Amino acid sequence: MASGPEVMTSTNPELPCDALVVGAFAENGSAVLASPIPGLDDAAEEQVKEAMADAAFKAPVGSTLLLPTFGMAPARSVAVAGLGKRSSATSGHVRKAAAGAARRLADRVEIACVLHSAVDGSDKAAAEGFLLGSYRFNKYKSDPSPSKIQRVSFIEGSEDELRKGQTLAEATTLARDLINEPPASLTPRVLAERSREIADVTGLEFAELGEAELAERGFGGIMGVARGSAEPPRLIRLKYAPDGANQRVAIVGKAVTFDSGGLSLKASQSMMDMKTDMSGGAAVIGAMSALPRLGPRVEVDAYVPAVENMPGGRSLRPGDVITHYGGRTTEVLNTDAEGRLILGDALALASEERPDAIVDIATLTGSISVALGNKIAGLFSTNEELSAGLREAASSCGERFWPMPLAEEYGSEIESQIADCKNVGSRYGGAIIAALFLKAFIQHRVQWAHLDIAGVARSEKDYDEISKGGTGAGTRTLIRWIEGRA
Ligand code: BES
Ligand code: MN
Ligand code: ZN
Repeated sequence: MASGPEVMTSTNPELPCDALVVGAFAENGSAVLASPIPGLDDAAEEQVKEAMADAAFKAPVGSTLLLPTFGMAPARSVAVAGLGKRSSATSGHVRKAAAGAARRLADRVEIACVLHSAVDGSDKAAAEGFLLGSYRFNKYKSDPSPSKIQRVSFIEGSEDELRKGQTLAEATTLARDLINEPPASLTPRVLAERSREIADVTGLEFAELGEAELAERGFGGIMGVARGSAEPPRLIRLKYAPDGANQRVAIVGKAVTFDSGGLSLKASQSMMDMKTDMSGGAAVIGAMSALPRLGPRVEVDAYVPAVENMPGGRSLRPGDVITHYGGRTTEVLNTDAEGRLILGDALALASEERPDAIVDIATLTGSISVALGNKIAGLFSTNEELSAGLREAASSCGERFWPMPLAEEYGSEIESQIADCKNVGSRYGGAIIAALFLKAFIQHRVQWAHLDIAGVARSEKDYDEISKGGTGAGTRTLIRWIEGRA
């Protein structure tokens, strides 16, 4: 599964390598090295500093200046990675700097690194940055040009922290791979099979509900959305059950493997990226894959409703009424608001088991990107503490979530004449209205949070630790949140 470079520690500061990565801070309009360069004598280091000045390198966060060492050091070149101002430098900056260096050094093989020594406690972030920055999805290139980096040796790094960083990065990479896979080859059935394999390899419990069981047990949201598609739906379940857990949480991820809109068909421009619509499910599966290795003492139940949303002779029609798992009814007026239909079923099921908290994650609304753009996701919650825990988890791994209101004032938007709810309201406040729709499915007052990642699940460009295409957004936040509860 892991295909990126190997990360390891080394106690040898004079390791022969293709490039040695060293941090630099921005100071008075120029760059100063964050640490001495191991293996370089004073005269040689002076030359590096002169070269930095000649290049007018100012060390903004994420920038990399590559300098040759002309045989004066065991490293063939020095990669100076910008960390911004010393006073404000965080492990988040180290993560970005490491990712920038990984991109710049993609054609080198052996890397050594002292970047992490620039900021205390940043070993984990440095490993994460290197691995995420060297991610490429080239499965379908006849001429794949993978990152050539084979090994990154962290001089005097903490083995334990590196492994944690690697685990977080690999979980994210797994989510990215699932998202980037074309929709014809990642159907609900395939996603379930992949989940089973992941469970087998990592040591999770796996179960799936197929069509017959979904129909029989009344999963009208999942069955309804899947009706227009030739591909049968699945409800994927993964479980992490460590010894000694004293609490149980549930995570739920939307996996629409392709969202055409159904009969409320999308325009071709809006449909182009809709293989991304299973990113919530990918984040959940990615996060689950990391738990056995990290070992937090929290039981975690994962639910991933997986469907394809297509128009067809049997599709849901605008005006149809469906009955969800647990008995709530919805008048479906727009078949493109399908995520909430399948999540309604899954949330009803998850809350029936009365976990201590439920977090769902979904590419739910275009509206959330109107509100927060493409770098910040929306966070809705019925509980302040849960919300704070998620925000803390997010900031510890460099992801961004912003609290949004579950404003009851807008509840009337989804009142239906003939059913418990309708699935669309006004365009304005669309992300809030969608969240209110979901909230109604939570039973027994279980604490609940909803992460709307529609804006951040995919990126148009490579930047920082984010790669063009599927980003794996939310994967690391979920993991850190679970770890934080242990
Ligand atoms: N999958 C989309 C949301 C989405 C939009 C994800 C853009 C990623 C990028 C969702 O199923 C959808 O179509 N939502 C509609 C809801 C509307 C019909 C109420 C939307 O946001 O337009
Ligand atoms: Mn849709
Ligand atoms: Zn969708």
